[in-house]
Amino acid sequence: MTMDKSNIDAVSLVSALRRRLETVGMSAAQASLRSGLGRSVVADILSGKSANPGISTLAKIAAALGIGVADLLAAAGAPEMGGGLAGRTVLLVIGGGIAAYKSLDLIRRLRERGALVRVVMTKAATEFVTPLAAGALSGGRVFTGLFDRDDEHDVGHIRLAREADAVVVAPATADLMARMAAGRTDDLATAVLLATRAPVLLAPAMNPKMWSHPATVRNVATLRADGIRFVGPNAGEMAERGEVGLGRMAEPLEIAAAVEAIFGGGALAGRHVIVTSGPTHEPIDPVRYLGNRSSGRQGHAIAAAAARAGARVTLVAGPVAIPDPPGVTVVHVETAGEMLDAVTAALPADAAVFAAAVADWRAARPQVEKIKKKAGGPPALALTENPDILATVAYRKKDRPRLVIGFAAETQDLLANATKKLKAKGADWIVANDVSPEAGVMGGEQNTVHIISASGIEDWPRLAKGEVAERLVAKIAAALA
Ligand code: C5P
Repeated sequence: MTMDKSNIDAVSLVSALRRRLETVGMSAAQASLRSGLGRSVVADILSGKSANPGISTLAKIAAALGIGVADLLAAAGAPEMGGGLAGRTVLLVIGGGIAAYKSLDLIRRLRERGALVRVVMTKAATEFVTPLAAGALSGGRVFTGLFDRDDEHDVGHIRLAREADAVVVAPATADLMARMAAGRTDDLATAVLLATRAPVLLAPAMNPKMWSHPATVRNVATLRADGIRFVGPNAGEMAERGEVGLGRMAEPLEIAAAVEAIFGGGALAGRHVIVTSGPTHEPIDPVRYLGNRSSGRQGHAIAAAAARAGARVTLVAGPVAIPDPPGVTVVHVETAGEMLDAVTAALPADAAVFAAAVADWRAARPQVEKIKKKAGGPPALALTENPDILATVAYRKKDRPRLVIGFAAETQDLLANATKKLKAKGADWIVANDVSPEAGVMGGEQNTVHIISASGIEDWPRLAKGEVAERLVAKIAAALA
């Protein structure tokens, strides 16, 4: 966040200071003692009596709270900037994994949303990123050891734990989760995690084999039962060459949105969003079906992102091999007909996102018994058209969602075909993506999309599917606001 100091008046700075003092339970007298300022000076500033206190005086009170001027400015400016984390202190624990580099970006994302970010790094984390870099981005000191208490700031693990409104562990390594699950406190990170009563969010990151190991599965279950929240991991490529699977840390934007959701301040709070995802399977007989290669990843990521933004989400999912996203009502279906019924039953909604790859045709007469192989060649397969779920909902007179969004997966003439689709299907936006095999989108981890609406075409860069989801949800929230 770039912050112009002149835009923030003394009143906002003083109220940010007052909020901080209240949060940590520090009295004006204690603030006076710690800052070296006179009692009446502090009292007058906090009560608003002193009309225009100087920034250096305010900085002294901030220092008494263990925060720098940059954080005070961020906390003061954030409310006007609509930051969902304004006035919140987020303690970020960076674990020792290759994904730690993404945590540096996470610091920026949290501060953009108005949070005051304090950083604890495990010893292993300092092998991947430096405390200097984390400190420069967070605008404050980075805490690394249990026994290196800095007397001047007097910040021990109990105080770090008490002053956090939320604790985020990113990356949460297998080792860190194992130590948390066992209640150990053999370093500053685990000591803070045991001492805090603030909500704790973990963003796991590890090799897929480590994530699926029974020991990790057991630890995750224990931590969930302890009320710990999770975001991710996502599926995708690992740092190790050739390794793919579940284990990539969630993207910084996804984690920041999950932190906002903890405080219920999401941009879609109070909204209902319907999402379709995955393929459909259209039976030919009891054992055979017509289907396609959709993995459901993009649709599921959109449902998860909408839930993190505070929406009530109904996800109508075709047969997929990926888990249900947390915090979402999932209706599992097989066929296009069932998908249409489930979507209609879920109406009304504020927005509907049709990300499913619905089969265009189904067998005209699915057989009750398995079709036998016979001499004389294969049987004729008569097809009939499936209902178009998107168009059916978009053209509804009653209960049409305010925002109807379709996808166009094309292998050629992407933009021309997607623009045609916008009109033909009555959608408000079409998310167009190139699914030619060269693009590697189908079943892949990344997506390059274009948003087509009546007002033109927006080209987005190549992004992880989770990030496409976050951006789309932010755009939906802005359109509904
Ligand atoms: O016509 P096409 O399948 O390319 O259109 C894609 C868009 O229409 C997607 O948003 C998809 O979910 C939706 N669709 C649908 N019902 C169908 C076919 C497509 O909702 N039967």
